Amino acid sequence: MSKARVLICDDEVLLRLWLEEHLAERGFETEGVEDGASLLEAIKRDAADVVLLDLRLPDTSGIQLIPKLKEIDPSLPILMMTAHGDVETAVQAVRAGAHHFLEKPLELAELVLLIEQALETRRLASEVDRYREGNRWQFADVTLVGRSFALRRVADLITRLAVRGNPSTVLIHGESGTGKDVVARAIHARGPRQGGPFINVNCTAIPESLVESELFGHEAGSFTDAREEKHGLFELADGGTIFLDEVGDMPLSGQSKLLNVLENKVLRRVGGVRDIAVDVHVVAATNRDLEAAVAAGDFREDLFYRLNVVPIFMPPLRERREDIAPLAMHFLTNLAKEMRLPERHFTPDALRALEAHDWPGNARQLRNMLERTLLLEDDDTIGVASLAPEIRGQDPHSSVPSEFVLPTGGVDLEDVEKSLILQALEHADGNKTQAAQLLRLTRDTFRYRVEKYGLGV
Ligand SMILES: Nc1ncnc2c1ncn2[C@@H]1O[C@H](COP(=O)(O)OP(=O)(O)OP(=O)(O)O)[C@@H](O)[C@H]1O
Ligand SMILES: [Mg+2]
Repeated sequence: MSKARVLICDDEVLLRLWLEEHLAERGFETEGVEDGASLLEAIKRDAADVVLLDLRLPDTSGIQLIPKLKEIDPSLPILMMTAHGDVETAVQAVRAGAHHFLEKPLELAELVLLIEQALETRRLASEVDRYREGNRWQFADVTLVGRSFALRRVADLITRLAVRGNPSTVLIHGESGTGKDVVARAIHARGPRQGGPFINVNCTAIPESLVESELFGHEAGSFTDAREEKHGLFELADGGTIFLDEVGDMPLSGQSKLLNVLENKVLRRVGGVRDIAVDVHVVAATNRDLEAAVAAGDFREDLFYRLNVVPIFMPPLRERREDIAPLAMHFLTNLAKEMRLPERHFTPDALRALEAHDWPGNARQLRNMLERTLLLEDDDTIGVASLAPEIRGQDPHSSVPSEFVLPTGGVDLEDVEKSLILQALEHADGNKTQAAQLLRLTRDTFRYRVEKYGLGV
């Protein structure tokens, strides 16, 4: 640990030297100055941990210096000293933000004790601040919260993209719940197309046979159900942004058409013969490893490169734990507002427990868990005991029984499987990728079983 730096500001040379010497002996780093101007200079040059401040100085009064010092460092402890101690000045000094008021002659042991107390207060305050400190980037109505290097880079990139007139295609990579939606909306909200439409397309949700007509529209009579002509989502997004979520799930036929639109900026409706010009910023997202999908032949390589012009990587929460506390506090405030509850706070312990957890479902799981906590807990302060059991324990995996005990009467294995699938879906809020992860199944296997048991949502 480095030494705490104590600045001593007093015009009495002998007292100053005495303090410098004795405090240095007690393990502090000391520096003495004789007036207010030199004190401000010294503190700007090299931050202090505590200031010992004389009330009467040649160029100013100690009380007038307090707000200036607090401006430089709001949590700086200031110990006032005076030989002309009267109660009123003491009260004034403490009101102005001094930590304590000491009368001369000084008692060294008492002074050291006070300095140590002040340092401890400051340490605790900074620990709470550490959690509050999270950055917030506001892109119109979209808030991005975090503190990690990764997130700062993402925020920076969004700002850079915004100043480009003709924005490049963006591909957001990241596990489920890492904030890909937020980033896509922020790109739109911050960019020159903010006045235009933002069309969100979940590529998984569209049945394969309808992908082309949904995205690119169709002419009347182009297929059995197509009685009237229809504008596709790309046409609707003209002048704005289209967000192709889970683009990795787009069938190959849709992929080649998409590539064509990206290259030529024109589209042709299903059954159509004319080219329709569109001006759309394409932002895509994937929670699959698209490069692996390319290697496996599920995703067109040329389309991958065409989409991945500006890749954005959202790391899982467990790889940027510094974002957990700011995110948790952000969610807690918003959820309390939504649920019309009074403001809630975490205890430092609760925040530490949240930070220690692995969050396989990332920010979404954190948000859902906090929503449940708020439903169940009436207290304004959320401590460790109010958190879900799997978060309270240090190791999230140890709380999972490694072995299910077979009841003597036996079980219907299919029932058990069905129930686990339903539970996983519930935990994951209906998100299949995340539910599959909870059961350590691949997405395809999971989907197969969901269909097998008729559990599709
Ligand atoms: N950095 C962040 N700042 C503020 N909110 C966030 C952040 N990251 C995630 N969230 C919130 O967490 C939830 C999940 O995020 P989001 O829906 O963006 O995830 P996703 O990556 O799109 O997941 P999926 O792949 O499942 O679609 C949302 O409520 C979102 O608003
Ligand atoms: Mg999403």
